[in-house]
Amino acid sequence: MADSDPNSIRPLTSETNAVESRPAEFVDAADTASLAPGQGRTLELRGRRYALFNLDGQFYAIDDSCPHRGGPLGGGYFEGCEVYCPLHGWPFDVRTGQCRTVPARTVRTYPTRVENGKVWIQLVASPGPTSVGDS
Ligand code: FES
Repeated sequence: MADSDPNSIRPLTSETNAVESRPAEFVDAADTASLAPGQGRTLELRGRRYALFNLDGQFYAIDDSCPHRGGPLGGGYFEGCEVYCPLHGWPFDVRTGQCRTVPARTVRTYPTRVENGKVWIQLVASPGPTSVGDS
């Protein structure tokens, strides 16, 4: 099989892996001044909703949709490191996405960084807890 054949299957090499292993880009999500410590809110970035929280000056991003029935977590009551879903009150740790009520139900977390007065969110979920199906 010749390399010039467009239908040939290329062996997996470090060159072909390079594109897939490229880190996902960070997206400008909010001005840091727009979210005071102890506050959270829902953001829509590229057609998907995220919940962003300021926990003592550290910013945390999670999926906005509660894995129970889709409640908007960015609008939930935020105390300590937990946000309480506004629909039925399940608490989620914004640092890990872990639900204290039903530990098997978690939300995805996303890396954040602060630069030039802006919060940036990397729109690829961190390894670890992930959302699970609804019931
Ligand atoms: S929708 Fe979030 S606890 Fe029910």
